[in-house]
Amino acid sequence: MSKIKVAVIGCGSISKHRHIPEYANNSNVELVAFVDPIIERAQHYAELHGGKAYSNYVDMLKAEKVDAVSVCTPNYLHAEISIAAANAGAHVLVEKPMATTAAESEAMIEAAKKNGVFLMVGHNQRLMPPHVKAKEILESGKLGKVLTFRTSFGHPGPEGWSIDGRESWFFRKEEAIMGAMGDLGVHKSDLIRWLLDDEVAQVAAFVGTLHKEGTDVDDNATCLLRMRSGATGSLVASWTYYKGQDNSTVLWCENGVIKIDTDPNDQVIVELRNGTVERYKVGQVATNEKQTSSGVVNEFVTSILDNKPPRISGEEGYQALKVILAAFESEATGKIINL
Ligand SMILES: NC(=O)c1ccc[n+]([C@@H]2O[C@H](COP(=O)([O-])OP(=O)(O)OC[C@H]3O[C@@H](n4cnc5c(N)ncnc54)[C@H](O)[C@@H]3O)[C@@H](O)[C@H]2O)c1
Repeated sequence: MSKIKVAVIGCGSISKHRHIPEYANNSNVELVAFVDPIIERAQHYAELHGGKAYSNYVDMLKAEKVDAVSVCTPNYLHAEISIAAANAGAHVLVEKPMATTAAESEAMIEAAKKNGVFLMVGHNQRLMPPHVKAKEILESGKLGKVLTFRTSFGHPGPEGWSIDGRESWFFRKEEAIMGAMGDLGVHKSDLIRWLLDDEVAQVAAFVGTLHKEGTDVDDNATCLLRMRSGATGSLVASWTYYKGQDNSTVLWCENGVIKIDTDPNDQVIVELRNGTVERYKVGQVATNEKQTSSGVVNEFVTSILDNKPPRISGEEGYQALKVILAAFESEATGKIINL
């Protein structure tokens, strides 16, 4: 069988740490093009892996017949590029947040449907071993229903991550649209929906810029969520955890509690009301400093090979984004937002 021809659009940090090495390690893939307006970045990977470098995705889509693309650009370009790629007949793996508005998300889903291609969103938290284990335990039913929860994602901010450091698009509102909420909050809104197998029904939030200078994108958000099941909890996203980074989730259930990533040695801990304690060593949640294979690219490639729609679909990405958009609306209006 011939290899899947892939183009990576946007050659910054997420491409460097995950998309490009994960495609390069997948024997079913041929990397045929790299795109970045800073052409040296694209050329660097073309030299490493073969394929051609382009400074513009429109030219690339015209010149190459690619089977699939990864969209790893600043947020404001996700919809435009994903739709263009779908219209060119390519399957799309777009980074999170999948888009910046509801209308963009719907247009992306529609474009994929119309062209008969897959749209997958890079919600890699679902594939991290502690979250996979937690999902398995929750599905076993031993904990009963989830009643309350907290989930948080905080680190010192994208200046230590983005290829452009403090000069990054992450801090420019017209390109990022959302700050910590689009970067980190959307990971957790997706995670909590998936873990609880439920949708968020109501959101109340404080979202703002508390400490980063020279930017008006949000660097912190504290949200209250009520799920359709009635379960309530908090979701926190922060770019100002200069110490004490946090990527943990705790779910209090009818029969006990499950703690995810609260202990570096045992990434999942279950404490039951009957006194039983179960501790699981399943590997850590990836951090900016400690990258592990995300599994996202392999899942995308497998879904193309098997011709099976991806689990982490455009529709899923859209539901996760709706929670974040509702949090901004809550901040702007001072009201609880119903979804
Ligand atoms: N899944 C995750 O855990 C995760 C982690 C980090 C970032 N991300 C997402 O990945 C995306 C990229 O973030 P990053 O951290 O790689 O940012 P980055 O700043 O490191 O890199 C962005 C790159 O995009 C390039 N670019 C800008 N305009 C472009 C265009 N028109 N065409 C092609 N390339 C263009 C820039 O030159 C830069 O090289 C963002 O949407 C971000 O939210 C996801």
